[in-house]
Amino acid sequence: MDIKITDSIKYIGVNDYETDLFESQYVLENGMAYNSYLILDEKVAVCDSVDRIAVERWLDNLEKELGNRTPDYLIVHHLEPDHSYGIDAFAEKYPDAKLVMSANALRMLPQFADVDTSRVIAVKENDTLELGAHTLTFFTAAMVHWPEVIVSYDSADKVLFSADAFGKFGTVDADEGWSCEARRYYFNIVGKYGKQVQALLKKAATLDIKTICPLHGPVLTDTIPEVLKLYNTWSAYEPEDRGVFIACASIHGNTLEAAEKMKEILEKKGCPRVAMADLCREDIAECVEDGFRHSVLLCMASSYDGGVFAPMSDYIHHLKHKAFQNRKVALVENTSWAPSAIRTMKAEFEDMKDITILDKTVSIKTRVTEENIKELEELADEIIKNV
Ligand SMILES: Cc1cc2nc3c(=O)[nH]c(=O)nc-3n(C[C@H](O)[C@H](O)[C@H](O)COP(=O)(O)O)c2cc1C
Ligand SMILES: [Fe+2]
Ligand SMILES: [Fe+2]
Repeated sequence: MDIKITDSIKYIGVNDYETDLFESQYVLENGMAYNSYLILDEKVAVCDSVDRIAVERWLDNLEKELGNRTPDYLIVHHLEPDHSYGIDAFAEKYPDAKLVMSANALRMLPQFADVDTSRVIAVKENDTLELGAHTLTFFTAAMVHWPEVIVSYDSADKVLFSADAFGKFGTVDADEGWSCEARRYYFNIVGKYGKQVQALLKKAATLDIKTICPLHGPVLTDTIPEVLKLYNTWSAYEPEDRGVFIACASIHGNTLEAAEKMKEILEKKGCPRVAMADLCREDIAECVEDGFRHSVLLCMASSYDGGVFAPMSDYIHHLKHKAFQNRKVALVENTSWAPSAIRTMKAEFEDMKDITILDKTVSIKTRVTEENIKELEELADEIIKNV
């Protein structure tokens, strides 16, 4: 991929069009990119390796850009296998190169590579690495998304090498906007660590950043202000949009019919934004993203084995994993003999931080009646007051 960064910083990452699921769970509609960068100065530094599937292509890209030079450093911003799989092959091919990483990463390194640890330079907050015209300053970014993560800033070209932060699903040549796949990536992969992302944003605010080079997705330039703004909203657990996300899990279709009706009612009543998903059929990661995106989450589900229908139960557990908080939640159930869905969902949400559960709920008895529609209308009024 010929991606221009600066005269002396080259893109040497690799697109992966083959892997079906990232981390064995996230659907890759448009593949994935494992980014890597080469800084050519008096000293030569490589920023990060790539995943198993891409190591050979990465080493080829590196060799092409190096010309007759050899790397002095491999900077390991993040040790997760999607960025560290090529460390051993690199270390063997370039035996004089040093590896630069955090002390935490050095401790974890033998789990990920067989390289001689005496080749490692461990860096801490504000340490620098002089390359010539370029000087890299390191900042810790623990838990964005693993404990050993560092980011680095090049003051010469004003580039932030941001590790997993600001990354997205999709190859770098994917024909799609940034925010949708970056949001799905953020909430599902980094979402639990809002506090740590806020800490990183505070550090970033002290830097004059012209370019962000993340480990996934496109290199960012003109869109940096809006990207930083979105990251601030997301990591503060603030809703991005005033509106409702209707998450529905229905066995026989009655609750789904009610959900579709509810979408219509909310739209007719002028709710600013209404999104809906059938949890039984749609990508759960997309539904997690939509749950976080909106100010109100409306969960509509069948009662099931004295609890709530499993796709809803799974969904709520996914939200819980990702520290879902600071939202309004409304609940609708369906029951044929012993209502249990609302009770079960309520108990799960009560366990989460700063969740307000609306008092008004609706319990449908198998088929949706005229009376139920009236109740849904009333619930819609309550929801709109809360968006
Ligand atoms: C395996 C199974 C377990 C169920 N458990 C309950 C239950 O514990 N309590 C209840 O009232 N209904 C239970 N139901 C019935 C459904 O919740 C009920 O028929 C409801 O109307 C389904 O709504 P739906 O058409 O949206 O799926 C169960 C249904 C199935 C298939
Ligand atoms: Fe990661
Ligand atoms: Fe990653």
